[in-house]
This record gives sequence, structure tokens and C-alpha cells, in this order.
Amino acid sequence: MADKIGVAILAAGLGKRMGVQVAKPLIPLMGKKLVDYSLKAAVDFSEEQKASLQTGIVVGHQKDEVIKHFEASSFKLSFPVQKEQKGTADALRSYFEGCEWAKDTDYTLVLCADTPLLTDVELSALWNVLKEKNLDAVAASFKTAAPKGYGRIIRASQGFHIVEEKDANDQERSVNEVNSGLYFFKTSMVLENLAKVDSNNKSGEFYLTDVFKDGANVEALCFDSETPFLGVNSPVQLGTALHQLKKRINKDHQARGVLIMEAAHTYIEPDVELEPGVTIFPNCYLHGSTKIAAGSTLEPGCVVKNSSIKENALIKAYSYLEQASVSPSCQVGPYARLRPGTELGEKCKIGNFVEVKKAKLDPSVSVSHLSYVGDAEIGENVNIGCGFITCNYDGEGKHKTIIGKNSFIGSDTQMIAPVTLGESVFVASGSTINQDVPSRGFALSRARQVTKENMAGRFLKGKWAIPKKD
Ligand code: UD1
Ligand code: CA
Repeated sequence: MADKIGVAILAAGLGKRMGVQVAKPLIPLMGKKLVDYSLKAAVDFSEEQKASLQTGIVVGHQKDEVIKHFEASSFKLSFPVQKEQKGTADALRSYFEGCEWAKDTDYTLVLCADTPLLTDVELSALWNVLKEKNLDAVAASFKTAAPKGYGRIIRASQGFHIVEEKDANDQERSVNEVNSGLYFFKTSMVLENLAKVDSNNKSGEFYLTDVFKDGANVEALCFDSETPFLGVNSPVQLGTALHQLKKRINKDHQARGVLIMEAAHTYIEPDVELEPGVTIFPNCYLHGSTKIAAGSTLEPGCVVKNSSIKENALIKAYSYLEQASVSPSCQVGPYARLRPGTELGEKCKIGNFVEVKKAKLDPSVSVSHLSYVGDAEIGENVNIGCGFITCNYDGEGKHKTIIGKNSFIGSDTQMIAPVTLGESVFVASGSTINQDVPSRGFALSRARQVTKENMAGRFLKGKWAIPKKD
């Protein structure tokens, strides 16, 4: 029978050292919250090992907000409550008391909610050692030049114990192998030992680290790199975590064939999907669930949030896209803004200083300069001149502009919505359209031009004045 594994994510602490009001598990990091990264590592581990996990997130400080954060989560989660934050051992006791299934598991994985760089790689390494050596527990440790703040690993000929910074003597403090806060236990072992943990230490807390004992069938697995275990306890460490995460994400994309021209100046959030053959120039920010297909290029300074960009699109410099969908071979920008609900068909061209919102543009539509297209449906092959405006809002509701295919809309025109234009319509420059135009219609609405010869002199003053003839 497959092993039953329970996961406890300890997330009840406030994180005083962060110096902010929001509880530490909910601190934002690259479009997610700190606690999301611990959960992701556990989920990836279960996929990798084909193991089925049950997960309990121990909550306390701002528990309602933490629970709410996972409302839409696709994973089945339990939220045991730790009433008072009396230490990590007390947090794990709350997990066993609050999750009715937890005591029936064979193994218990304990993660903290403040180690966002941890991945399934470290979890699998721990798991393999635990299983191969049939240990009762294994803790992940690493060596560091800056051990301050971490619990020290004090090895014995068999087993080991952990001394927290506050309780360590000088000799123990000089040890540079430290506890990462990540553990795998046999559930029976941790239950038995948890019951014995007391709070006789400098902090008056129940330390989970006290379940490890010299002489016991336990091991500390010392990892080569400390990066995956970086704990976020201060704003500076949050900055380091962000830097490392960003670096790792960019490297992964590069290894798969994404051309990132200057990785140090490129920000790509973890859920963004990029196909090999995408090119990204510096200072681009890609957020959320953005997807970009092969052959597309983002010129410098683009911001793309939750958008889809298909093959061979060119997003020119300093464009801002949000919940937009861009079909193959489109050109957007420079300085374009695609707001939520923008759908561009194939080969559309959106030029500089053009804003599009909640609008569906069929293939080969061109809006090349200084325009606003909002709440609109534009048919195939329509050309829109410079300075076009949909007047979509009357102070109460939003109204729609519909333009049929193959129409030609002159420059400096306004569509007072709701208004519908048929196919192959021609609208003359400078027109304000407030009535529907049938297919093949020509529409013009502007005052007739008046020209008076030699009358400019009446109006031209100062340096523009026309010299009088003698
Ligand atoms: C802990 C370890 C330390 C280790 C370090 C690694 C203990 C006693 N110490 O110290 O050996 O080197 O992690 O980063 O375990 N939490 C609760 N309830 C509580 C207290 C904490 O849920 O009552 C949660 C926190 O939200 C956090 C995690 O447990 O996610 C760790 O707590 P934290 O206070 O950050 O422990 P450290 O002092 O870093
Ligand atoms: Ca910590």
C-alpha cells in the first residue's frame, strides 16, 4: 500500500521582525504570497513521488485572511488553528489536534511558511534518505558563514540535537551547520516526542527542534547550498528571496530557449509561460498567468499582466497590456495600452498612444496613432486614422461602437455610442458620428469650410502681424 503522507505548513506566526502589519504568510512575493511557495513545493513533491498528500496549514495570526487567501485553491486543504503562538512544537500539536486524518498518516512532512525558495528537489532528497535508511526522522541542514538566528545542529556519534540561538553557549554558537526548519518524520515518532516537549528555555516557547535527540534514529541531511532554505524573517531577506527567485526563473526560461537579453533587468513571475523562441528585451515585467508563444518579441520596458500573446507578435517598447489577448503576427506599440477585454485578431496593428479596452478587433485592423477604442467591435481590415475616439460613456452606462469590415475611418473622428456602422463604410475626417451608417455609406459631419482672401491680417498680431505695404 502507498505511504500516507501528511503535510504540516506552520503559518501561525506574525513575523514581528518583518515590521509590517500583514501576517508573514501573506507577504507578497512575485505575484504570490509567501505561504504559496511552501504549498507549491509540497504539491510538486507529491507529483514527483506519485504520493498522495493531505495538507494542513496551521493558522493563527490573521487566520481569516490566510484561509480566505486559499478560498479558490484547487487543493484540498485543512486549516488547524493554533490559538496562541507558543512555538513551533505547539504549532505542530495544533496540526495533529485540528486535522482528524493527521494521526493516521505514516509520515509527516513539516514546512515553514517562510522559506519560499524551497522546491520538491530538497523534499525528495530528504524523503529518499528517510526511506532508504529507515530513519525515524530527518532534518535538512546547511552550512553558512552567517549562522546567526538559526538553530545549530549539534551532531553526536549517533543522532543529533538542535540548540536555538538564544539558548546556545559560545561553543555551540560557533557551529556553522544550521537547521533549515524542514523535516520529515515517521508520524508515530513525532507524536511520541511532541508530547514530551516542554518550554524550559530562554524564549519560554515549545521548540519543535527538541524532538531531535542524540542517540536516536535520526539524521541531519546537510545540503551544499543554503539558497533553497533562505528563511524570510526581515525585509532584507525578502529582498534576497525575490532576487534569487527571479534569477532562478529567468535561468530556467533561458535554458529552455527563451532569449532574455538582460536577465538582471527582467522580471517574470512564476506562473508566466513562455515558449522557446520568445525574445525579451530589458526592463520588461511579466505578471500572473501571462502566456507568450514562440517567435514573439517584447521590446524594452513592456508590462504584461495576465495576457496571452500568440506567435510572432511584436510588442514594441513601453507598452502596457492587461488581460489582453493578442493573435499571431500582431504589432502593438510603442507606447500602447491594451486594457482588460482587448481581443486583437491576426495581424492587427495598434500604434503609438493608442488605448484599447473591452474591444474585439477582427484580423488586419489598423489603429496606428493616438486613439481610444473602448467597448467596440471592429470588423476585418478596417483602417482607423489618427485621433479616433469612441465616446463610450455618458456618465451612467457604457455603450458600444460597431464598425463593419473593410471600412475606412478618417482621422479625428468620434463615434458617439451606441452607434453601428455597416461594411465598407467611409467616414470623412473630422466627423462626429452619432447616427448609424448603412453598409457602403459615406458619412461626413462637419461645418463647411469658409475661406476669405486676405482676411488673415485682421487676426494675426504681434510677431505674426503681416507687414503693411506702403
Ligand atoms: C526556526 C527553528 C530554527 C531554524 C529556523 C529556520 C524552532 C524553535 N526554530 O526558527 O531552529 O533554524 O526556523 O528558518 O523551530 N510558527 C507557528 N507558530 C508558532 C511559532 C512559529 O506557526 O507558535 C511558524 C511561523 O509562522 C513560521 C515557522 O513556524 O512559518 C517558523 O517560525 P519562526 O519564528 O520563523 O522560527 P525561527 O525563529 O526562524
Ligand atoms: Ca523563520
